[in-house]
Amino acid sequence: MADLDGVKVAKDYHVDIPFANDRGFYVKGANSLDWGMKKHLSNIFSPKSGNTVMFAFDHGYFMGSTAGLERLDLLLPRLAPYIDVFMGTRGALRDCVPPEIVKSVALRTTSGSSMLQEDLSHEVVAVDIEDAIRLNADCMAVQTFIGGDGQLSSIDNLSRTINAGFRYSIPTLGVCAVGKDMERTGRFFKLATRIIAEMGCQMVKTYDCEDFEEVVAACPVPIVVAGGKKLPEKDALHLAFDVIRKGARGVDMGRNIFQSPYPVQMAQAVGKIVHEGYTDAEAYEFLQDSVSDASKA
Ligand code: 5RP
Repeated sequence: MADLDGVKVAKDYHVDIPFANDRGFYVKGANSLDWGMKKHLSNIFSPKSGNTVMFAFDHGYFMGSTAGLERLDLLLPRLAPYIDVFMGTRGALRDCVPPEIVKSVALRTTSGSSMLQEDLSHEVVAVDIEDAIRLNADCMAVQTFIGGDGQLSSIDNLSRTINAGFRYSIPTLGVCAVGKDMERTGRFFKLATRIIAEMGCQMVKTYDCEDFEEVVAACPVPIVVAGGKKLPEKDALHLAFDVIRKGARGVDMGRNIFQSPYPVQMAQAVGKIVHEGYTDAEAYEFLQDSVSDASKA
């Protein structure tokens, strides 16, 4: 209890100043959520730019050891200063991420398939909400196969996660999955992202596609875009620039960062686009300068 000796009299009531906390919340679709949800969303989406750079390293959950992710314990501390959110499995987080690295966490909570299978669309919820709370996760990521053989079970996984998330104010990231033979058209992503959002999740991860602005416009919560397969650095930066320009609130990039020969510089360059309004050409120039400086050091 505070010491009661010498207590100052409260007098700074600023009676002529209206209550300051009266603005709408800056994250799309989140106005009606409670304080805890908004706090987690603020950990993910920068209050300054409104955007996020997520680093996806959850590939091991169905691919096992993946090129570029062999030593998470070495890679993650190097990247941490340049990204906003670690997106990974609880195994990788607990085993490889020192807890003193203060970083937002998107926790992969579904699993059940492996790259040895043809059909990846059958998953289960593999992580309890209690464990998401123990890990201080800012959101739970659920793979959702709209149009896939496992659609019903993945919508069940998504719904149960969202329900649990509402009980404890932890947002859900619906990940729009594309199976091996599933279409990647604007028509498909408009359908899938909207279905996922209407289930009640607080953000959706999807892919770039034609009519991407319309996908964004029709989705009532923020969209973050997956990087997808490894591209030349210049093309990956163009992808980031193009989707941000078209309304995405961030990227959730994996291979285009960790399979680059310059993962740290690449993460920084992506951040310049996402948070600082750099064009892809400016970010590429930044990347080249940073790589050249690093080689001289
Ligand atoms: C799979 C995922 C992965 O995290 C994500 O796709 C990996 O990132 P990238 O495609 O950029 O390597 O959510 O659905």
